[in-house]
Amino acid sequence: MLKVGVLVSGRGSNLQALLEAARDGSLGAEIVLVLSDRAEAQALLRAGDFGVPAEYVAPENFNSKDAYDQALVEKLKARNVELVVLAGYMRLLTSTFLAAFPERVINIHPSLLPAFPGLNAQAQAVEYGVKYSGCTVHFVDERMDGGPIIAQTVVPVKQDDDADSLARRILEEEHRLLPQVVRWIARGKVRVIGRRVLVEE
Ligand code: GRF
Repeated sequence: MLKVGVLVSGRGSNLQALLEAARDGSLGAEIVLVLSDRAEAQALLRAGDFGVPAEYVAPENFNSKDAYDQALVEKLKARNVELVVLAGYMRLLTSTFLAAFPERVINIHPSLLPAFPGLNAQAQAVEYGVKYSGCTVHFVDERMDGGPIIAQTVVPVKQDDDADSLARRILEEEHRLLPQVVRWIARGKVRVIGRRVLVEE
């Protein structure tokens, strides 16, 4: 089974979706380690509930971003992690990290990229006035929310939406899309050709 490590910073509802899919066997992958850059992340508790090793790694104990990322890489490699999932991880990864897991780091973002990268994507969508937004799972490269797109789900924006109501509607789809992409990767169905990602039917 594909060994997956998950990086988190907060609530961990996407982590929860992965943990549930792993437990019921539908993920075809095993979550072997959860690492957080925030001590108070609810995600750490969720991992504990599923008996998955979870650790807070304090950024202030390292004197550079590279040193921090190198420590994360060592922890992931020690558990033989083959795929890294960013599930609400709020830090940009360095090239040190990415070089250790080439084409093996994915992220979920709550918009239809390349629209609305960065923070508060749902508020950006409401303010811009788009009629549809959604979520994107993509490979991670050095650009913020800029790597090759693996899959997207479209979600309608309603007239009376605010950022919170739109975020809730998108989140439901995130919880479907992220486990689905991990399942595809675990089954070897995903190929990257330049910026285009092919998923075998
Ligand atoms: C999600 O909206 C995800 O798309 C974004 O951060 C949020 C994390 O939520 N990257 P959770 O921690 O998984 O509940």
